[in-house]
Amino acid sequence: MRTEGATVAFLDIEKVVFTYPGRAPVVDGVDWRMQAGEFHCLLGRSGCGKTTLLKLAAGLLKPQSGRIVLRGGELAAPGPQVGFMFQAPTLLDWLSALDNVLLPVSLQRRPTPQDAQRALRLLDQLGLASHAQHHPRQLSGGQQSRVALARALVLEPPLLLLDEPFAALDAITRAELQDDLLRTCRERGTTVLFVTHDINEAVYLGDRIALMHGGRIVENWTITLPAPRMQAMRHGPAFNDYCARVRAAMDGAGT
Ligand SMILES: Nc1ncnc2c1ncn2[C@@H]1O[C@H](COP(=O)(O)OP(=O)(O)OP(=O)(O)O)[C@@H](O)[C@H]1O
Ligand SMILES: [Mg+2]
Repeated sequence: MRTEGATVAFLDIEKVVFTYPGRAPVVDGVDWRMQAGEFHCLLGRSGCGKTTLLKLAAGLLKPQSGRIVLRGGELAAPGPQVGFMFQAPTLLDWLSALDNVLLPVSLQRRPTPQDAQRALRLLDQLGLASHAQHHPRQLSGGQQSRVALARALVLEPPLLLLDEPFAALDAITRAELQDDLLRTCRERGTTVLFVTHDINEAVYLGDRIALMHGGRIVENWTITLPAPRMQAMRHGPAFNDYCARVRAAMDGAGT
């Protein structure tokens, strides 16, 4: 593994095991390390344990054995250092887009004008400046996903955990949001763990890809496509070669 032997990793998932009561382990001895600023994708078919692993990395679930170490300290509970975006946008319908983005702040303290400015800047970066006062029901699915992404970013978390955030979107909107996400995280130096079951998405976004199957990471790749990524790369031989290799591994894993 590329990070082997490095000093302290940014996020270190060490031999983590998690079992829901009365079941076999759904995360079964996962080791994974991320360095600051890296973008990793976690790939695997439905039910292989991706969401459970992400919740463990967020501190929302506690491993039965092993541990999660974030910037040198063991993670015991969710905190402002981690931004989490669920698969469904889960916006509050009675709040405007702006107030939805400010929710993580409001849960801690009264938002300041600086907080509101930061939230508006995020909405602007994500192409939603004119929708700040709209309510979720007045927004399209893609716009709701952008609001949820802005909400995950508003506290400027150094670690962002995203669970199939664009799964419900059409291909063009999805490609736009992928580029928005890459740019925003690059500008902020955010470290990202991104769950998807879409091979193309994983190859486009990831510096590294981990393939999960039956609660384990069964294969991983370092993706050396040029940064920043550009949509035209999707048509090139290097991109398609990565996709073919990952697909062959998924087929081989029986997924
Ligand atoms: N709260 C729960 N109680 C019991 N079993 C659960 C619970 N949540 C998930 N599971 C089981 O754990 C396994 C892994 O679930 P998980 O949600 O992590 O999968 P996933 O890889 O995210 O799947 P998907 O791609 O469909 O989102 C599944 O077999 C699921 O049925
Ligand atoms: Mg899931």
